[in-house]
Amino acid sequence: MKQKDCYILGIESSCDDTAAAVINNGLVLSNVVATQTIHEEYGGVVPELASRAHQQNIVPVVHQALLKANIDKKQLRAIAFTRGPGLMGSLLVGTSFSKSLAMGLGIPLIDVNHMQAHILAHFIKSEGQTSPSFPFLALTISGGHTQIVKVSNYFDMDVIGETIDDAVGEAFDKTAKILGLPYPGGPLIDKYALLGDPRRFPFTKPKVNPMDFSFSGLKTAVLYFVQREVKKNPDFVSENLNDICASIQFTIVDYLMDKLKNAVKETGIKEIAIGGGVSANSGIRAALKEAEANNGWITHIPKFEYCTDNAAMIAMVGELKFKTGQFAANDVVAQARLKI
Ligand code: KG4
Ligand code: ZN
Repeated sequence: MKQKDCYILGIESSCDDTAAAVINNGLVLSNVVATQTIHEEYGGVVPELASRAHQQNIVPVVHQALLKANIDKKQLRAIAFTRGPGLMGSLLVGTSFSKSLAMGLGIPLIDVNHMQAHILAHFIKSEGQTSPSFPFLALTISGGHTQIVKVSNYFDMDVIGETIDDAVGEAFDKTAKILGLPYPGGPLIDKYALLGDPRRFPFTKPKVNPMDFSFSGLKTAVLYFVQREVKKNPDFVSENLNDICASIQFTIVDYLMDKLKNAVKETGIKEIAIGGGVSANSGIRAALKEAEANNGWITHIPKFEYCTDNAAMIAMVGELKFKTGQFAANDVVAQARLKI
């Protein structure tokens, strides 16, 4: 028997990506993202500019998502939107838009926690990918987040470790900036690191609780190191770029793996699911493969378009909540510091 269609629209606007997607029974029919480039010249996301760009992008992005899914908005069963966490001015755009559209169409509204969505993105049906089995550990690593979450069921999650300062993506981007690389510098550090010696310049790993993270010290250590070396040789960075990048990446990846190992030891769970933009990093991917071979871990990395901020993951959570009758009230408000 053919499964009954259940089209859900997902809308994401928590940071600097305006995104909309349509899902139907776990299958993504469209996944549209308008990435804001305006922030590049500032070396980081400027909240006010992000909010304004969302206002410009949201109508065309939703329109595109419906067109690509080849459905009319009247066929939608519900609208899921990111309620938080994120930048307030950005969240407000998606929240207000979603509320109005749901009201206009007379269909339910579903609020979604962005961090839960990064984790539940692993349940999007995708060729060649298997979803994790419960319980599993989720490591979410991006420009905005660094968390280890114990996932016992779809909506039964406990944060067991998180950063006490910068996110890991920020550590990549800020150290890249010190080296004179453009924003976002993470992919460039990765590119040069592949050509360098990871053990040439040792950086110490910050000490915090076994499953928590701290990255602000690494940024300062790289800054002082570069300043000291440039005094002796003004061309130090350009002459040693590959080795500096490889050493930074090695330190960060080793640190992430230490924390994951601590979490595996603490919980006894060896199934690990990674999400967030930093999961594109070749160093972390190689380290996970090694842990699969040496420590018996089972690891999952979703397709890259579902790792970075996207609306397919919001629609996925929307579908799971729709099927279990979890809807938002009409007076729901955006929440910048929403917890899992
Ligand atoms: O998930 P994402 O697209 O957006 C949010 O921050 O929420 O993640 C972007 C982050 C940036 O910090 C970027 O530098 C980092 O992911 N990133 C990488 C790589 N690709 C993206 N960092 C290291 N290596 C990469 N290959
Ligand atoms: Zn995110």
